[in-house]
Amino acid sequence: MDNKNSKVNKVVLAYSGGLDTSIIIKWLMDKYQCQVICLAADLGQEEDLEKIKDKALQIGATKAYVEDLRQEFLVRYCFPSLWANAVYEGKYPLATALGRPLIAEKLVEIAEREGADAVVHGSTGKGNDQVRFDVSIMALNSELRIIAPVREWEFKSREEEIDYAKKHNISVPVTKEKPYSIDMNLWGVSIECGVLEDPWVEPPQDAYLITQSPQNAPQKSLYLELSFEEGNPVAIDGKSYSPVDLLKKLNQLGGAYGIGRFDMVENRLVGIKSREIYEAPGATILLTAHKELESLVLDRETMHFKEGIATKYAELVYYGLWHSEFREALDAFSKVLQKQVTGQVRMKLQPGYCHCVGRKSPFSLYNEDLATYTQRDIFDHKGGEYFCKLWGLPLKLSAQNKIKKSKE
Ligand code: ARG
Repeated sequence: MDNKNSKVNKVVLAYSGGLDTSIIIKWLMDKYQCQVICLAADLGQEEDLEKIKDKALQIGATKAYVEDLRQEFLVRYCFPSLWANAVYEGKYPLATALGRPLIAEKLVEIAEREGADAVVHGSTGKGNDQVRFDVSIMALNSELRIIAPVREWEFKSREEEIDYAKKHNISVPVTKEKPYSIDMNLWGVSIECGVLEDPWVEPPQDAYLITQSPQNAPQKSLYLELSFEEGNPVAIDGKSYSPVDLLKKLNQLGGAYGIGRFDMVENRLVGIKSREIYEAPGATILLTAHKELESLVLDRETMHFKEGIATKYAELVYYGLWHSEFREALDAFSKVLQKQVTGQVRMKLQPGYCHCVGRKSPFSLYNEDLATYTQRDIFDHKGGEYFCKLWGLPLKLSAQNKIKKSKE
């Protein structure tokens, strides 16, 4: 494990095309005289990855992979998280946290294929993402060395990084960059830094990328019928969509209504609190609808038990423990129950929020003849009396004891 001093010949770097990871290519070549292979992973961040690939090669990477991981990301990572109804601290649907272990998986795959001796990522030493990368890599290949240059390099500020980039002919985006740190994929956008660092300051409109302000949303509500099969969303208004197209469509529709914006102070794994804002219109619509469908098809005890697991699942994902047997076991639990989570949910989109206005399923446990207060009612009301007698029996016994004691 302690291979810090061994020679590094070839590394695989998670490359985003941004300033940090661009400098990292050069920095690695300088420091280790090693070959740098880059991976630009497409999780739906809507960037020109071929351009990013060219940039990597131009800076000096020996090879650059572009991998479209969008479908895999949704099917293997986001949908299981949806089955669990996982959101961190009641708000964050975990877009970034779900993306990292998949990127780590691909980094390790490429490192093994290319015979590389280290894997490199651009995360800082005080964030959650370093944990997700490091722990995932450790879990998948314990022999690989992990290098996180930002944790150890000499640059103290963005200005110093820019100087270094200029010195080495690395193009620095000339456009006036937004003062935020942004991570985007199909499950959502995470935005931090800049004025957001003051938790008292309202996030400015220009901090949001894929949702518009609810104030500017259409006043007319929009109804959507979502179809689920075994817990997975498969169609909108009767029309089938691939997972990628479905999320794109819901992000676009939900975004127009300003749905799925979250402003929160969250507890990071490394012990500090951070203020972050999130946009997750598609994920929010799906999480709301999925939960509603579960309420129709799962019995009470299963549902209540599952509610507790949702929090634990979100913690596991947030804490970087995706590649653990614990997470696999929770997925196995959800998977059994999702067999019944098939049906339709009618969602109403309004400025700033969405809610369910109808649900149906062939596995529905709802029986109108049992629930109705009309003449059609078939519920055994007499049975109710005996039910109460037995249900309350322990409390009755205890009450009788109290009376006995008070008389002693
Ligand atoms: N706080 C979020 C998480 O830990 C997002 C982290 C990445 N955010 C960013 N803007 N780069 O999952």
